[in-house]
Amino acid sequence: MAVLEVYEYPHPVLKKKALPVEKVDDDLRKLMDDMLETMYAAVGVGLAAPQIGQSIRVLVIDYEQEEDENGNRIKGNPRYFVNPEIIWHSDEKVCGEEGCLSVPGQRAEVERFEKIRVRYLDYNGKEREILADDFLAIVLQHEMDHLDGILYIDHLSRLKRNMLLKKLEKYREEEKHERD
Ligand code: NI
Repeated sequence: MAVLEVYEYPHPVLKKKALPVEKVDDDLRKLMDDMLETMYAAVGVGLAAPQIGQSIRVLVIDYEQEEDENGNRIKGNPRYFVNPEIIWHSDEKVCGEEGCLSVPGQRAEVERFEKIRVRYLDYNGKEREILADDFLAIVLQHEMDHLDGILYIDHLSRLKRNMLLKKLEKYREEEKHERD
C-alpha cells in the first residue's frame, strides 16, 4: 500500500464530475487500499478518489479507526463505495460540523439529510444497499459530493465561504512558516 498525495482546494480535479467505474478489479482494489492508507496517514474519516487526483466514482470511509503502539491510525471498520447513488433520503435534515482533507485546518456547519439509502458496489464489485443514518449518513453525503465536484464549503453562504477561505490562506501561511 502507498500513501498518496491529497489534492487541495482550489485544484481543478476537485471541481470535476467524476466518471462511473466500469469494473471493480484488482487495480481498483489496490487504489482503494492506497486511498485508505492515505486517509489514515492524513487522519481523516473519509476520502473520495478526486482527492487523490483520480476523477472516478470511488470513496472510502472509516470512522472507527484504532491506534497502534506508536499512535498511528490503523484499520478499524473500513467501508468501500464504488459508483454510490442516493436512492432515497429522509425529509428531515441535520446540521453538523464538517472538515475536509482538501480544505486543511478548517471546519464549518453544513446541513445534510438525516437518513439516506445508498446503492453501490462493494470491494468485490457486488451490488449492495445501505440505509445510513447518524455520522455515516453525513460522511457519505460529504464524500459523494466530492464525486460531483462539490466541496462542503460550496454549501456555505458566500460570506461564510469567503471568511473560511481567508482563514485557509492564513492557515497555509502559518504552516509554511512552521516548515521554513
Ligand atoms: Ni472532503
